[in-house]
Amino acid sequence: MHVERYEKIFMALTLVVLLAALAAIGAGVFAAGVHLPSPSGRMDPKAIRQTPPFDRPGIREVAPGEYEAVIIARAWAFEPNEIRVPRGSTVRFRVASADVIHGFLVENTNVNVMVIPGQVAEVTARFERPGEYVFLCHEYCGFGHHQMFGKVIVE
Ligand code: CUA
Repeated sequence: MHVERYEKIFMALTLVVLLAALAAIGAGVFAAGVHLPSPSGRMDPKAIRQTPPFDRPGIREVAPGEYEAVIIARAWAFEPNEIRVPRGSTVRFRVASADVIHGFLVENTNVNVMVIPGQVAEVTARFERPGEYVFLCHEYCGFGHHQMFGKVIVE
């Protein structure tokens, strides 16, 4: 079989690009620690109101300046839909669905997770600047999807 010289070069370049891409993925996973969010726990959506901590949705202080926000996402509201914390607080959000797939995004933060029935989504954010941070459902969940929002008030 005859292979042209430029074909060989092209094949070699393909290999180089492939190896570079794999190396980039490897560096991201093993060196930078990039990974998909994984569920922090499991629960039965039907029994959500009997399952701690979702039997008591709301915000509570777990340490000085550290809060845990337990939020139920359901069609079509967040419970609670208003959270107040002092500025400089670190808030660990724990969100679970009572029915279908929802999303949870807090504007101007790194909080952006899917809320999958049966799984507990957990994500932490620090609120340095006072103001209102709107959170909303970003996963189409039916007729009232656009009404699914709330806010974090940083005082
Ligand atoms: Cu819940 Cu869209």
